[in-house]
Amino acid sequence: MNILAVNASPKGEKSNTWQLTCAFLEGIRSALPNVTIEKIELRTADVRPCLGCFSCWNKTPGKCCIQDDMAAFLEKRRNADLVIWSFPLYYFNVPGPLKNFIDRQLPMVLPFMTDRTDGTGNGSHPARYDLSAQKHVLISTCGFYTARGNYDSVLSMFDHMCGKNNYTTIFCGQGELFRVPELKQRTAAYLEAVLQAGKEYVSGGITPTTFRQLEQLLFPKEVFEAMADASWGISKDSGQKEEESLIFTRQMAALYNKSAWAGKDLVLEMHYTDLNHRYQILLTKDGSRVLTDCPYPYTTKIETPFRVWCDIASGRISGQQALFEQRYRVQGDFSLMMKWDDFFGPETDAKATNSKELSEKGTPSSAKEPSKQSAPGQTTNMNLLLLPWISFWILAAIHATNGSLISLGICLLTPVLFYRFQKTFYDMLSGLIVGSFCLLTLTGSPVEITLPLSYLAFGLMWSISCFLRLPLTAHYSMNDYGGTNALDNLLFLRTNRILTAAWGILYLLTPIWTRALMQTALSAYVGAINSVLPAGMGLFTAWFQKWYPAHFAAGRRR
Ligand SMILES: Cc1cc2nc3c(=O)[nH]c(=O)nc-3n(C[C@H](O)[C@H](O)[C@H](O)COP(=O)(O)O)c2cc1C
Repeated sequence: MNILAVNASPKGEKSNTWQLTCAFLEGIRSALPNVTIEKIELRTADVRPCLGCFSCWNKTPGKCCIQDDMAAFLEKRRNADLVIWSFPLYYFNVPGPLKNFIDRQLPMVLPFMTDRTDGTGNGSHPARYDLSAQKHVLISTCGFYTARGNYDSVLSMFDHMCGKNNYTTIFCGQGELFRVPELKQRTAAYLEAVLQAGKEYVSGGITPTTFRQLEQLLFPKEVFEAMADASWGISKDSGQKEEESLIFTRQMAALYNKSAWAGKDLVLEMHYTDLNHRYQILLTKDGSRVLTDCPYPYTTKIETPFRVWCDIASGRISGQQALFEQRYRVQGDFSLMMKWDDFFGPETDAKATNSKELSEKGTPSSAKEPSKQSAPGQTTNMNLLLLPWISFWILAAIHATNGSLISLGICLLTPVLFYRFQKTFYDMLSGLIVGSFCLLTLTGSPVEITLPLSYLAFGLMWSISCFLRLPLTAHYSMNDYGGTNALDNLLFLRTNRILTAAWGILYLLTPIWTRALMQTALSAYVGAINSVLPAGMGLFTAWFQKWYPAHFAAGRRR
């Protein structure tokens, strides 16, 4: 397959639209590795305007009298199986150089008059060459929030040129966002859909699902428009240039998803310590507002050098890494930081898929709801790890043989009962260790020995994991902190390492009093007695995993 891609943006390779076209071509290439792709770069090409002399019709039929690059381009144009027209929308039409190119295609038609048969206008010229099998794809970005309604002139022209609806279009509003590094998460998702479209295009056609993704807005109308307005760096009131950190803060505020509002207004204060500039972003149910005089007590205050925050926003450095290195500090309510993506994150495909309405009306609340439910098999469950241990501790203490027998059954059944959950190494190890203790007890080892030893084994398992990259609790608490993404968060790992160590120490000590209790009349209740401390420890864990990150982020802990 021969593909001709015409890049008609005056920005050349730096064109927003060209990013989409490259993704589309990549998709095609992944499906058809042997395609040949030719490119015409109109920005640097010598394509002069048509002189209107008709010499290509009468004096030199099929040949233009202008000596420039167009003769070679027409050759490529004729030999292509697929032409991709890549251009920005200019004044609701194609940019001038592309219009020149299109005009200069006159040698490709014969001068005679014919009627059209597809209902497009009145009058046509027969084609000089049979290009009826040639296909066309139009890829374009425009500056307004939506492409809808803005491409009428373009469509009308291509209907005349290629035949009504005889081409495929990928038109995307909010085109300037493709050059904003801070928004890469969202634009990359869109480009991924374009790549998919390219793949599907040459494999039977773009599917309705992909088309729906391509039609979705990058951001809801009001979010985009606030961002776009802020991006010019001009005050709406005075028309004067604004301070860079204020422009940046306004753009950040524009990203606010008001569906994340949870019943009370929040005041996020940004203090750029190197500039000593402070701004407050008021987050309400109706949207966000930037206040330059900081009139309210803050809910959460971020103290950061301006450049550090810019680097985080553009993805040059990781926010979590920067926080762990205490390159910025957070005062006040830390929960806003924990839900940052809900407040300021882009719409993800997962949130947006299947929401048809998203494209025109902004975002329905259901689509913005952070997905709390993971697919089966994707989350871990600590009960899977605990159940064998607890059953052995309680039941074997009451009755060594029966208790061990039941516990052995539980070890075997737990993976089946919890089939919906992802199993960890520790789940499997637990089944193996507890099963061994059950067998030892069943084969005559005294429970006064196996029980304390099992606590020791449990304590060792937790303690040893503290020396590994992922401490034991991290495998389970990650479910509440964004899944496996949390495993790259150094603060999350440190919090879990401390908690795992605390639990490990508790269980390394437990055998001491367990052994002592086993000698007394309370021996049958040792499992129950040993549940009291862990219950307290559970409360401590719940408190610590919220308190420690906030305490650390406030810069009070190195
Ligand atoms: C001269 C000019 C005219 C434009 N006209 C429109 C327009 O009519 N409608 C629109 O939505 N965007 C318009 N835009 C915005 C561009 O279409 C938008 O910035 C596009 O993403 C640029 O793509 P490119 O980087 O591929 O050149 C115009 C931009 C310029 C410079």
